[in-house]
Amino acid sequence: MSKDTIKIFDTTLRDGEQSPGASMNTEEKIQIAAQLERLGVDIIEAGFAAASPGDFDAIEKISQRVKNSTVCSLARAMDSDVKAAGESIAKARLKRIHTFIATSPIHMEYKLKMNPDEVIKRAVRAVEYARTFVEDVEFSCEDAGRSDIGFLKEISDAVIEAGASTINLPDTVGFRLPFEIGAMVKEMSDYTKGRAIISVHNHNDLGLGVANSLEAIIHGARQVECTINGLGERAGNAALEEIVMALKTRSDVFTNFKTNINTKEIYPSSRLIATITGIEPQPNKAIVGKNAFSHESGIHQDGVLKNKETYEIITPESIGLIKDDTLVLGKHSGRAAFKDKLAKLGFTLNNDALNSSFERFKILADRKKEIYDDDLRALVTNEMTKATQVYELISLQLMDCSGGVPSAAVKIKKENDEIIEAGIGEGTIDAVFKTIDRISGYNGKLEDYKVKSVSEGKDALANVTVKVSFNDEPAIIGHGLNIDTMLASARAYIGALNSYLSMEGKLKERPHKVML
Ligand code: KIV
Ligand code: ZN
Repeated sequence: MSKDTIKIFDTTLRDGEQSPGASMNTEEKIQIAAQLERLGVDIIEAGFAAASPGDFDAIEKISQRVKNSTVCSLARAMDSDVKAAGESIAKARLKRIHTFIATSPIHMEYKLKMNPDEVIKRAVRAVEYARTFVEDVEFSCEDAGRSDIGFLKEISDAVIEAGASTINLPDTVGFRLPFEIGAMVKEMSDYTKGRAIISVHNHNDLGLGVANSLEAIIHGARQVECTINGLGERAGNAALEEIVMALKTRSDVFTNFKTNINTKEIYPSSRLIATITGIEPQPNKAIVGKNAFSHESGIHQDGVLKNKETYEIITPESIGLIKDDTLVLGKHSGRAAFKDKLAKLGFTLNNDALNSSFERFKILADRKKEIYDDDLRALVTNEMTKATQVYELISLQLMDCSGGVPSAAVKIKKENDEIIEAGIGEGTIDAVFKTIDRISGYNGKLEDYKVKSVSEGKDALANVTVKVSFNDEPAIIGHGLNIDTMLASARAYIGALNSYLSMEGKLKERPHKVML
């Protein structure tokens, strides 16, 4: 018997980016989209085009890059949003507009201040207009979980008639229990049978996002919206890796379903997103958490040694977690070994990226004895997601600290010039950032600063993430990687500055980000 394909709609780049502190720059989004394509995601929600010129730009670039997944752009049910969404994906091979409006009584009355008839009119207009840009239109009934089922049917009839082929029923506030989602999905999929695909988008406020998505599949949903590592607004969205591995591992229950996901790309995808956002999955997170495959208790270890299946229902290999101790890199490793190792970790680099990553690896290997897989992942990701280098750090000298005035001397290269400046600050980091501001002439406001050690040991790489707003414009993320935390911090700040400069013109056209 042929199996039904469950479409995997990934919204890491849109709902995932709404996680506090998870903003990504354009290069980072392009790398993530390329990885999602390798993972086999059917639909990549690349962003909300009307939010800002930066979001539009990222969706447009992703549309040019991705070939095998549908690129989707989100739009509120209003002409300006739909137009931006349509234009942002114009160059995509496979494209979809996803438009939405709230359908629950509480949202219609207090947020939209519209009656149900007005909501239907707006939804129909948005879908009809979206169809002038693309064939594939998805309509979402925001807060479907708390909407009246009669109204869901009425609005679905109207938008299907207007040209929507997917009806998404988000549990926007993560309120529903599995049996309730199952009942809603069953009623809606029986009602729309043959006219539209029913999709779900479950938030995780009660920790039920994945359970609700699985229940929805059993009851007729053929698309699930989810994110890598369960990122997303508030408590996040249903985690892609958990849904996919539950379907695979319990294929005895989900006998009639399959996905197009290459599960061996799950772990590389998870690591890429954790490295870029600086948000690590909790250690006990299912499938991709650090402890997901480690056995602590003696009884468990003994059992696993005798037969892995005593305590392991999933193999690490099946998600692409390959502990490769056969090839440990160090300062004598050559380019071929380096390339080979990266391939094992799931990276395929073009020649330029390989050369610059190898150069950075050599510098690191001179200072760090053991180079772990996570070091390599961080180093290569950092190299691949760099914006055009307007400013480049040459050297940093610090004077401090206890009792004295924290001060920094910074040497930076801009085109063919080397500029040296010195400055003081409230603390060392403040002195470094202020001195960089003096060189660039841009006034940066630091909104967030995070430092995370990439691997183990006193000589671990520090991965610094900063969020900086230059000249009061929307904040930009920068990453810096170095054994020395201060150097990593300076690099992160300059990285944010370079990203800002690469999009400065566009920011000026429409500087304020629209939040959903
Ligand atoms: O949670 C939600 O309702 C959403 C919609 C925009 C689909 O993210
Ligand atoms: Zn959502």
